[in-house]
Amino acid sequence: MATNILDRLRAGVVTDSPEATEDAGRQLAAAMEVDQVLALRGDLGAGKTTFVRGLARGLGIAETPTSPTYNIYASYSGNRQLLHMDAYRLNSGDDVEDLMLEDFLRSPWLIVVEWPEKIQSWLEDESVTTLDFSILADGRHRIQMV
Ligand SMILES: Nc1ncnc2c1ncn2[C@@H]1O[C@H](COP(=O)(O)OP(=O)(O)O)[C@@H](O)[C@H]1O
Ligand SMILES: [Mg+2]
Repeated sequence: MATNILDRLRAGVVTDSPEATEDAGRQLAAAMEVDQVLALRGDLGAGKTTFVRGLARGLGIAETPTSPTYNIYASYSGNRQLLHMDAYRLNSGDDVEDLMLEDFLRSPWLIVVEWPEKIQSWLEDESVTTLDFSILADGRHRIQMV
């Protein structure tokens, strides 16, 4: 019997193509409760942005998210609002407060954050699901819910 995406991510999902990583994101989008934060940890190239593309597809968003490094975040609308944040250039949770996200977030939303370590103090106040991305010795990618 097929187990659901949450159980599979808790056990660790191994993907052998960008499409497979995207598909895991697409499935998780449907399983996430509304108004939740998803933190994506892992080195550069581990597949975080690829996964976000799948989240967007799963939320019925027509656009394809790209790395928002130079904008800090990008907002997409679909069945839910998707806020894709790249916290790499932020220095603290206070930097997130300064963005005043509450002014334009409209429930139901999903915030997904790359480099969540940078804004730990902000995340402590939110309901956060964390995924760890890594690359295995054989080159496949692994996604583990923690
Ligand atoms: N199994 C896989 N899962 C995810 N990405 C993969 C996989 N195999 C190859 N790739 C490639 O690795 C790169 C990962 O980049 P990206 O998703 O931008 O990572 P990150 O956002 O973590 O830096 C992309 O070029 C993607 O196509
Ligand atoms: Mg990225």
